[in-house]
Amino acid sequence: MSIVYDFKENIKKEELDMISKNINNGELVVFPTETVYGIGADATNELAVKKIFEAKGRPQDNPLIVHISNLEMLKDLVYEPTETEKLLMDTFWPGPLTIILKSRKTLPNAVTANLDTVGIRMPDNDIALNIIESCKKPIAAPSANISGRPSGTNVKDIIDELEEKMDFIIDGGETEIGLESTVVRVIDNKIKILRPGKITKEDIESVVKNVEVDKKVMEAIKDNEKVISPGMKYRHYAPKTPCTLVYSENNQKLVDKILEKSQSYSNTLILSTTENIEKYKEYNHINIGSQNNLLEISHNLFSTLRCIDKYNAEKVIIEGVKPDGIGLAIMNRLIRACEYDYEFIK
Ligand code: TXA
Ligand code: MG
Repeated sequence: MSIVYDFKENIKKEELDMISKNINNGELVVFPTETVYGIGADATNELAVKKIFEAKGRPQDNPLIVHISNLEMLKDLVYEPTETEKLLMDTFWPGPLTIILKSRKTLPNAVTANLDTVGIRMPDNDIALNIIESCKKPIAAPSANISGRPSGTNVKDIIDELEEKMDFIIDGGETEIGLESTVVRVIDNKIKILRPGKITKEDIESVVKNVEVDKKVMEAIKDNEKVISPGMKYRHYAPKTPCTLVYSENNQKLVDKILEKSQSYSNTLILSTTENIEKYKEYNHINIGSQNNLLEISHNLFSTLRCIDKYNAEKVIIEGVKPDGIGLAIMNRLIRACEYDYEFIK
């Protein structure tokens, strides 16, 4: 049984003290951020960090993001950031942006998977910031899920999946964004987006030029292929039921293609946008949110992916969204959920 601390209404000081004591004693604590929940541990404690890998079944070569609550904490962790990196921090922190920086190698190797860089972010969530402040330590935290599963965005889903493995869980309600942070690396003053998120290419371009999305964001990774961010190459988010992703800029063509495909299976489940749901009435369907409100879709996405298997469908057909802005982050997660089984039509 996990102990659940309810911080939905307010952060309780005495409980916060207990939680930070636990973290400083090497325990794991599940906590909310504005993106998804994290499994947090004292980033300076090697044994605690190793417990995270064990609990998630996470490959050892996939490094963790280190969470900080103020810029002072950076000094011990990384070498002096460049002007471009500082500009990103000033503009987007606290917020859903992870910046890969040059590590001083002061943290245990397990955190960074022996790389000479470390991913850092300052989350925009009062509970998360208070925990870090109260521990006075940087907190290493991957998303709260078993490796390969959708990230946890609410405590019920997390308890269903991780209850046996987590002693302490802080309930901060449903996370706002629902998708993990945007991960970037600055190379020769050019910014490369390694994982898209709520902070989009366009958002970053409003403060710095030369922003590029790594092409692996929408491509399958071949075995043994070299990638800049280890997380890119692992299986992610896929339900047990086989899924396929369909997208067209032309809404009529999109609906026609999905209806045509749906006939081929004895039991099809369709994940549809609000705009098209009526057209799929004769099939099992789930509304993922409006094409005009992609934040609604990102907020709902992982909890929706988690309930797919309950339908016992032969095939799940998922409506894609325009891969612009936060739509790119949604499509990046969906294409992985479908294990690269997709059809994009003109
Ligand atoms: O929103 C988020 O980022 C959430 C919350 C809890 O903060 N965390 C999260 O962590 O999504 P995780 O471990 O599920 O994903 C971290 C990603 C992985 O794809 C990993 O490969 C990449 O960041 N990453 C971490 N450190 C890196 C580094 N030094 N170089 C390249 N990629 C790195
Ligand atoms: Mg994750």
